[in-house]
Amino acid sequence: MSIWLYINILLFITVLFSLADQYAHLPIHIMFGLAGLFLILFNWTRHAFFSTIRNTPDRKKKIKLATISKRIYPFHRWVGTTALLLIILHAAIIIHRFGFLWMNMKMWSGVGAIITLICMVLSGWFRLYFPSVKKRRMHIIFGFLLFFFVALHTVLF
Ligand code: HEM
Ligand code: HEM
Repeated sequence: MSIWLYINILLFITVLFSLADQYAHLPIHIMFGLAGLFLILFNWTRHAFFSTIRNTPDRKKKIKLATISKRIYPFHRWVGTTALLLIILHAAIIIHRFGFLWMNMKMWSGVGAIITLICMVLSGWFRLYFPSVKKRRMHIIFGFLLFFFVALHTVLF
């Protein structure tokens, strides 16, 4: 399986452990952030599936992964759109509770992540209704950027 599957799982588990370390009860804004993160990584795993389908010489594996991909496909757009709604709630509650802390890196890495997520969701919907090679490439590039920002936001700052 593509390395991306393991990287996604590793990121989610790292965040879970660090939260378990910090909180006895997760506050609601963190729950929304965590749920959004889960849905983003779930959709990003499509990249791992597609890479493996393209690269593996094992025909059986190709068919198995393509079948799973096809089953998940109808949910993909709604999983991505729900992730954006959850993250809007996450950010709205945080800004309502703490205000926007201009000198805080966590706020800025979050802003980078939400802007990329908006681009991801928009490029997904545009790609669905007006498909083109350029839009396909944009959707994947935003995917890499989103992963980068989300990892920065949850693990580093
Ligand atoms: C794709 C977008 C986003 C995702 C997936 C996300 C996810 C998360 C997660 C899982 C946490 C808890 C883990 C941790 O503290 O390291 C968190 C914390 C935090 N996020 Fe986000 N977030 C996003 C966007 C934003 C935005 C736009 C803001 C700015 C308002 C923001 C501000 C924060 C802050 C300040 C915390 C720390 C809260 C605390 O410790 O009580 N996040 N985020
Ligand atoms: C968190 C948000 C999202 C992520 C991380 C994500 C990620 C991905 C990935 C990795 C692929 C496979 C790329 C390829 O090799 O072609 C893909 C395909 C696609 N995405 Fe998204 N996506 C997101 C949201 C959306 C949304 C909201 C839509 C809305 C319609 C959408 C529509 C599509 C379409 C039409 C395809 C091509 C068809 C297919 O996968 O079989 N995506 N997405």
